[in-house]
Amino acid sequence: MSLTHEIKFELNGVQQHATVEIAMSALTMLRDVLGLTGTKYGCGEGECGACTILVDGVSVNSCLMFAVDVDGRSLTTVEGLAASRRGQVLRDAFVKYGAVQCGFCTPGMVVQATQLLARNPRPDAAAAKTAIEGNLCRCTGYQKIVEAIVEAGAVLEGAPASGLETAQGPGVSGAPGAAGHGGAKLAKEGSR
Ligand code: FES
Ligand code: FES
Repeated sequence: MSLTHEIKFELNGVQQHATVEIAMSALTMLRDVLGLTGTKYGCGEGECGACTILVDGVSVNSCLMFAVDVDGRSLTTVEGLAASRRGQVLRDAFVKYGAVQCGFCTPGMVVQATQLLARNPRPDAAAAKTAIEGNLCRCTGYQKIVEAIVEAGAVLEGAPASGLETAQGPGVSGAPGAAGHGGAKLAKEGSR
């Protein structure tokens, strides 16, 4: 029985194929097979959200998804968002509000925010806070990230950002693995 599989899928709008081991995670495929290192390896256990990508438009912890399950799906990573209007506006807002410090959580946050803005083009602070509750940040205290997401929504809608609500960041103890962070757990792959 072969221990590898050939898979085909769409990656950032381009048809892609890869040879993957049956127990390989989608995160390992992206980083180690395809060289897309924008998606980060944090915990490897679905707890931190650093590895968040979009699969068919839904945010997923790629460390918890088998690469073979990517077959036939459409993936979007932070690299794919960089050229989009939504991604550019989010980047500018994150910089403006100081929502990037060490930057390790940023790709996952931007992907999560992208999903939110696709569903709710003008989110308030509460909606932004809920959207990122499965993504951990050690540096910013979350409020700057929430403000950046609210600002991005306003800019994309062509309205001035106003009335930013005081947002308490989602506690680090907030429920990990929020909605959309599904998938079977893989054995921990070791830190790197
Ligand atoms: Fe932490 Fe995937 S690396 S949730
Ligand atoms: Fe450092 Fe979020 S900016 S973990």
